[in-house]
This record gives sequence, C-alpha cells and structure tokens, in this order.
Amino acid sequence: MNDKDLMLSKKIQDYYEKQYDTYQASVILHNERTFLERLRIGETLESLIPNGSKILDIASGSCQWIEFISSKIDNYIAFDSNKSLLDHAMAKWPEKVTPMHGNIFERTSDPSIYRNVDILLLSFFLSHFSDETIRELFLNIVPLKKTIIIIDSFQHIGNLKFNGLELVKRKNSNHEIVEIPKRYFLEEELIGLAGEFNLSMDLKFKGMFWFLCVFNVGH
Ligand SMILES: C[S@@+](CC[C@H](N)C(=O)[O-])C[C@H]1O[C@@H](n2cnc3c(N)ncnc32)[C@H](O)[C@@H]1O
Repeated sequence: MNDKDLMLSKKIQDYYEKQYDTYQASVILHNERTFLERLRIGETLESLIPNGSKILDIASGSCQWIEFISSKIDNYIAFDSNKSLLDHAMAKWPEKVTPMHGNIFERTSDPSIYRNVDILLLSFFLSHFSDETIRELFLNIVPLKKTIIIIDSFQHIGNLKFNGLELVKRKNSNHEIVEIPKRYFLEEELIGLAGEFNLSMDLKFKGMFWFLCVFNVGH
C-alpha cells in the first residue's frame, strides 16, 4: 500500500473505532429506501449462498448480512479492526461467528485466514480505497480461487456522484465531523477489475445506492 493510502486507511480505522453503535443501525435503517434496498441485497445474497457455506467476511463490522443467511452457513469468520463491532456480532450470533481482530492489510497474504473458507465477502469496504490498493488486495485473494462477493456503493446514471476516491465528511458516534475516503463504483470499473484478473463478474443486484456482484475464476 502506498503512503497516501496507508494514511487514509488509518483515518478509516479511526472513524470506525468511534462507531460504537452498529453501522447499519445509524446509517441505513432509518431511511426507507435504503432499508428496502438492504432487504433486496440480503435476499439476493441468500439466493446465492449454497447450504453449508464457509464465509470469510473481510472488514465484517457487526456482520450485518448474517441475518439473511444464518441457516445456510456452517462457519462465518468475521475479520475486522474494530473490536467492539466484532463483540456486537459475537453477542448476537455466538454459534455462527468466529471473530478475527486485526488489520486486513497486514494479513492479506497470510493463508491461515482463508483456511476452510469457500466465499470471501467484502461489504462496504472497498469503496474506501484507491484502485491501487484494491488491486493489491485482489492480487492476494484471486489466486485462492474462492468466490468473491462484493456489496458496495453504486454510481449510475440515476445516481451520479464523483468518480474515484475523494474525502467525504461523516459524523462519527461522538458527533464529530471527520473526513474519510470514499468512492462510488461504476459498472465499468467492476467489469474492468474482473477483466484485469481474468474473472467473471456477475452484477446480481443493481440498486439506486448499492450493488451486489460476484467475481469467480475459471470462466
Ligand atoms: C463501512 S464498514 C462495513 C462493515 C460491514 N462490512 C458492513 O457491511 O456492515 C467498514 C468496516 O471496515 C473495517 N475496517 C476498516 N479498515 C480496516 C482494516 N484495515 N482491516 C480490517 N477492518 C477494517 C471497519 O472497522 C468497519 O467495520
């Protein structure tokens, strides 16, 4: 990771350190449109996950997607740098969640975190990073030949935002205004990423705000 991204990644970790409450409770559930979109993503995810799946949720936060897939998963490894969000997930899903606390960028090339996992889930994480950092992460995870599911912020003709990574203002749980890097993915960017790594890309859900896509090897 380059120096600029390293500095920005600390900002991101700091911001989420101060999110004591669950991310989705404060941001998503209070808006009817995002509430419904989240439901659609949850249903799409549920339809995609085979019974008995073992999932590694990279930057899991409080594991917001388990409620949709709990009956289908054997093991759900939740990796996050924020211990209080992991504790929240453990309190809610003690039998399903195996927590792993740490900085993912220090562990991406560590094979032990991927052991016994068949699906890698990245939800609302990649949109905090530059193309370069996303590619570095993909260089480590694509050779594992797992299914990669990405849920994140979407940009399309009906919802135009800025292109690429920018600093945006957010309020943390202490009501302080902080700046964190954020981007809104274009469909072309997802297609480009898949092409670079020789992956298939299936955009399974395209919403007003968010998308769910599946990257697979060998097509
Ligand atoms: C927008 S939240 C998404 C949480 C969850 N995936 C979801 O969809 O609700 C981003 C998460 O990334 C975590 N995070 C940020 N930087 C991280 C890092 N370097 N390593 C591991 N987790 C990180 C934060 O603690 C936070 O839980």
